[in-house]
Amino acid sequence: MSTPDVTIVEVGPRDGLQNESVHVPTERKIAFIEALAQAGHRRIEATAFVHPKAIPQLADADAVAAHLPTREGLLFTALVPNERGVERVERTSIMEWAIFTAASESFNRKNINCGIDDSFERFKPVLEAARAQGKRVRGYCSTVLHCPYEGKIHPAAAVAVIRRLFLAGCDEVSLGDTIGKGTPAEVRTLCGLLASEGLLSQCAVHFHDTYGMGAANALAAFEAGVRVFDSSAGGLGGCPYAPGAAGNTATEDLIFMFEGMGMRTGINLDLQVEAAALIEQVLKRPLPSHTYRAIRARGAPERPNLEMS
Ligand code: HMG
Ligand code: MG
Repeated sequence: MSTPDVTIVEVGPRDGLQNESVHVPTERKIAFIEALAQAGHRRIEATAFVHPKAIPQLADADAVAAHLPTREGLLFTALVPNERGVERVERTSIMEWAIFTAASESFNRKNINCGIDDSFERFKPVLEAARAQGKRVRGYCSTVLHCPYEGKIHPAAAVAVIRRLFLAGCDEVSLGDTIGKGTPAEVRTLCGLLASEGLLSQCAVHFHDTYGMGAANALAAFEAGVRVFDSSAGGLGGCPYAPGAAGNTATEDLIFMFEGMGMRTGINLDLQVEAAALIEQVLKRPLPSHTYRAIRARGAPERPNLEMS
């Protein structure tokens, strides 16, 4: 298969499900992940080895990881917050471990029960084990634009944490607009600062869609040079420690936008819609993704219109 022009990291099975009130049985999660792989995804965030009381929806992380499909070129990611997370993830075949901190002290304390400096102390054993075991490490910096507790985040504060994640040894850092309040202008400013430090080419973006800015922000990041985009099937997602935040930018919306611009994503939109429909059946609520809803309303497969471009 040829290399896509943009890489979509499907975070639906982790970010998408972590905030759902409906219990999703492990086998339905596996079927969802299998359907996403069938759609063409090569990077899927499968689960999180976090405290089961913090995120009960992902308490079955060990079981999910034990039943992941194997396919050449398919990279699974899981959140690994600390040494206890390492003990759990190293029993699995997951090849990319994700550590997560934030540009905001207050969000970090709510989310992972420690401040920014302490979060890097906790990551040390994760990074050491990952290095020793040849795993890829993804770093998340949450609240890069806005924080639910501190308000607007100064771009320099976000850049400082992002830089630190790279210096700690992350292969990639994903920039989280955790509460989905950022605008394209803010994305451009942050990306510009990162580019001036030579860091942007290793960054992914992870936009939540609370204010409907997800696709616009992804486009702004694309125009600044970003080529890796996190999104979730159907626009699922949210964080229990980010009150009021909506789901991730929908994968279907990103596929529709990028393919409509002539960019290859490597993902089959019709099969992506089928994967989202599988999880919608379990959650029993309409998924917010615009493209998903438009395609389902027509009841027929659809392609972005490239004829006039
Ligand atoms: P803590 O309470 O500070 O941990 O939690 P601790 O080290 O003090 O340990 C307390 C107890 O927890 C111990 O058990 C540990 O064994 C256990 P005890 O001895 O009392 O019986 N424990 C664990 N158990 C299972 N797995 C573990 C683990 N660690 C400790 N890994 C911790 C710290 C980070 C674990 C906790 O706060 C936590 O799990 N937080 C998870 C929060 C989370 O998952 N949030 C959502 C993901 S982040 C997000 O959504 C943002 C993102 O999408 C990007 C964006 O949108 O911006 C990534
Ligand atoms: Mg998120």
